[in-house]
Amino acid sequence: MTSARSSDEARGVRFEPAPLGGELRPPPDKSISHRAALVGAICKGPTRVSGYLDSADTRATLRAVEAVGAVVSQGDSDPNGGFFVEVQGVGLRGASPAAIDVGNAGTLLRIMPGWLAGQPGGEWELDGDESIRRRPVDRIAEPLGGMGASIESRDGLPPLVVRGSPLRGIDYEMPVASAQVKSCLLLAGLLAEGETTVHEPAPSRDHTERMLAAAGVAIRRDGDSVTVEPVAELESGDVTVPGDFSSAAFFLCAALIVPGSELTLREVGINRHRIGLLSIISRMGVEMGGAHEHERERDVVVHEIRDPGPEPMASLRVRPVRLRGAEVGAEDVPGAIDELPLVALLGCFAEGETVVSGAAELRRKESDRIEAVVDGLTALGARIEARPDGFAVEGTGELRGGTIDARGDHRMAMLGAVAGLASREGVEVTGFDAVEVSYPGFARDLTAVTT
Ligand code: S3P
Repeated sequence: MTSARSSDEARGVRFEPAPLGGELRPPPDKSISHRAALVGAICKGPTRVSGYLDSADTRATLRAVEAVGAVVSQGDSDPNGGFFVEVQGVGLRGASPAAIDVGNAGTLLRIMPGWLAGQPGGEWELDGDESIRRRPVDRIAEPLGGMGASIESRDGLPPLVVRGSPLRGIDYEMPVASAQVKSCLLLAGLLAEGETTVHEPAPSRDHTERMLAAAGVAIRRDGDSVTVEPVAELESGDVTVPGDFSSAAFFLCAALIVPGSELTLREVGINRHRIGLLSIISRMGVEMGGAHEHERERDVVVHEIRDPGPEPMASLRVRPVRLRGAEVGAEDVPGAIDELPLVALLGCFAEGETVVSGAAELRRKESDRIEAVVDGLTALGARIEARPDGFAVEGTGELRGGTIDARGDHRMAMLGAVAGLASREGVEVTGFDAVEVSYPGFARDLTAVTT
């Protein structure tokens, strides 16, 4: 028995130990929703998006595209935390000058300037909340500058001023794997003279590439690099947004560590660059299965796979498992970047040590997620220590419980909630309302699968 119970705001929200059961369709994918709105704005015709994520971050993107002249018509809401939206774009070179409030949305902050930078005559300022003002933008300003763009920032931090200029293609070696930086440069490449090639140190999510290819752009992958050719205009089309694997991951991990759970997650996006967590948990002892009869009794079963385009999705059935510690290195990081805090939690319940390295990027997320995870889980009784580029957890097979502060970070708020379900004494999450950024219905969904 249990669920999320709101008390007064200062005391936060409590999550009591409870198994998970039944079925859940996680909310629509945040990364894909941002991109659907942006690419829709770049097209000239209408783009219809089924299941656009209704969250603070993705609403900021709709407001941003409206600010530059796109017309956004919102249709009916669906029961999964999304709604239908039609975006009437302005065309590749049609963005009007504007001041853009990105709120807390790092993806919007880093991707949109690529499109704006190549439109001579325009000027745009992008700024956001207090946390966004700590998110580095030099990672896009530097390569965009190399393409001939004029970008000004406050010592590499927002606010960011983009003055549109003619761009030339670039051949750019990214120092860190980042889908945001890659996407930004690919959009700039659409307006540049000549080809633009981006080399990634490890493959990151390719939602932008898929959407651009569907819009008629000549884009190709060759090993670790992606090349885009300039175009006159994009062809608009329809997008179906799958459930967000990164949101589903909180429930998946909860069902792996709370005894007595059996949960099915439906229509979850399974883009292969997003599901790195599945290979990490298989190294932690989880037996993965597919649709074949003899695989049905495995711990995590991936079935009902379908691909309505541009992204594949599937159902995941999950049961508790005895986990063992594992090593997670730099090559695992891009495919599981947003799930690494959950790997720390799984590590608490595993036998032996779990070490995450090569993940210094975590320090630059909505919070310093290495510090936040280590301080937060330590307060709940975990044996975990911070490293410059990750953390090391000594599994004890349990977690006492206590209080954890979300630090304004949606993924920390949800981590605290899942820790509560798996703990001995329950967890109180202060600042729980940070979930609004990506998953406003989180507490409701959690209640639905724990009662
Ligand atoms: C995202 C890319 C990742 C991820 C973020 C969403 C995207 O960031 O952490 O939540 O939609 O492109 P980086 O590009 O900084 O790795």
